Amino acid sequence: MASFDLDWIRSQFPALSQDIDGYRPIFFDGPGGTQVPQSVIDAMSRYLATSNANAHGAFATSRRTDEMIGSARSAVADFLGCDDDEVIFGANMTTLAFALSRALGRSLKPGDEIVVTRLDHYANVSPWYALQEAGAVIRVVDIHTEDCTLDMADLERQLSERTRILAIGYASNAVGTINDVAKAVRLAHAVGALVFVDAVHYAPHGPIDVRALDCDFLACSAYKFFGPHVGILFGKREHLQRFQPYRVQPAPDEVPFRWETGTLNHEGLAGLTATIDYLTELGRRLSPSAENRRAALIAAMEASRQYERGLSERLIQGLLQIRGLRLYGISDPARFDWRTPTVGVTLAGRTPYAVAEQLGKRGIFTWHGNFYALGLTQRLGVESTGGLLRIGLVAYNTIDEIDSLLNALEDINAAVA
Ligand SMILES: Cc1ncc(COP(=O)(O)O)c(C=O)c1O
Repeated sequence: MASFDLDWIRSQFPALSQDIDGYRPIFFDGPGGTQVPQSVIDAMSRYLATSNANAHGAFATSRRTDEMIGSARSAVADFLGCDDDEVIFGANMTTLAFALSRALGRSLKPGDEIVVTRLDHYANVSPWYALQEAGAVIRVVDIHTEDCTLDMADLERQLSERTRILAIGYASNAVGTINDVAKAVRLAHAVGALVFVDAVHYAPHGPIDVRALDCDFLACSAYKFFGPHVGILFGKREHLQRFQPYRVQPAPDEVPFRWETGTLNHEGLAGLTATIDYLTELGRRLSPSAENRRAALIAAMEASRQYERGLSERLIQGLLQIRGLRLYGISDPARFDWRTPTVGVTLAGRTPYAVAEQLGKRGIFTWHGNFYALGLTQRLGVESTGGLLRIGLVAYNTIDEIDSLLNALEDINAAVA
């Protein structure tokens, strides 16, 4: 396999070479949203310039639009490893999760149980709590606070023959932990529950195979993996046919359209196909013999995972040297297969906001707060002190950028001393 061509990758993203207040910006805000390749920007404006119309009309631009939506569906199907008609588009993951929970809620009986986790973003918590209205009982899986991993023994305890749904994240957007989703699916299926996986944070960091996971539903968001602001939901066809979404009566009742409310973000979908084309090209550069798009995508995402592992090693090793810094999450390199390069830390004597602001002034963009992973920040006892500073890397970040961050953190510490 060819080597990971970082120069080529970075050259695709115009945002990386701009100047902001005299700095070449360092984007460590990937878990909040990634930058996009020029080809994605071009595809969005090309759609608007040449094909802009509503769907299902009897004229050229509408037909182009139908074709464009079909292409986006099949590109995403290759990205997730499913069939085209198992892919649903929406505004964002949160909106899709609420739509799904409302639909599944229609078949719940009072006393039916739903299991959520303390590690998750609340987009995968609140939609399930909303079903308390239908009499659902919510159970919460705890974490091991020492390394922010999910307590799998507790998961087994919370699951029972009363469980109807397990809602679990693929990876934590706050501290980077990757969950053993395949195992969780097996445990949930053994008691007859459906499994919804929030793959929003995981998606830019490794290949997704919904068939291998055997999950019933999985959601992600293109703006977290180098694309535009479009939400994506996979559902097994049998479920998409069986469950009844809330829909407007004259809209098509076939799968997948019955799950899509209103007019989609067409230019976003044009950009989404270009995003997957970018990842496919990366995969083909790495593995020229990849026999199809899915194989090229897997090559791209496997190589990204490997590259990011090296970034995690440098970042975490450096962070642990910084005086007063506390790292939440997996820090043992031998276990880095179970984390993304997303790191949550605190610095003694400074709020996460203050550190993020100082870094921001030096052109280094990080996030502060709870990132909507409220169960986690509460459990770690950091919610009342401003949450965490999140340093989130993706495949376009570099070792040099990590070194700039580490130097900046040393400077900030020196200013305080
Ligand atoms: C893990 C995770 N889940 C869900 C979401 C919500 O995604 P969206 O903005 O597409 O609704 C986010 C956004 O930060 C996230 O990181």
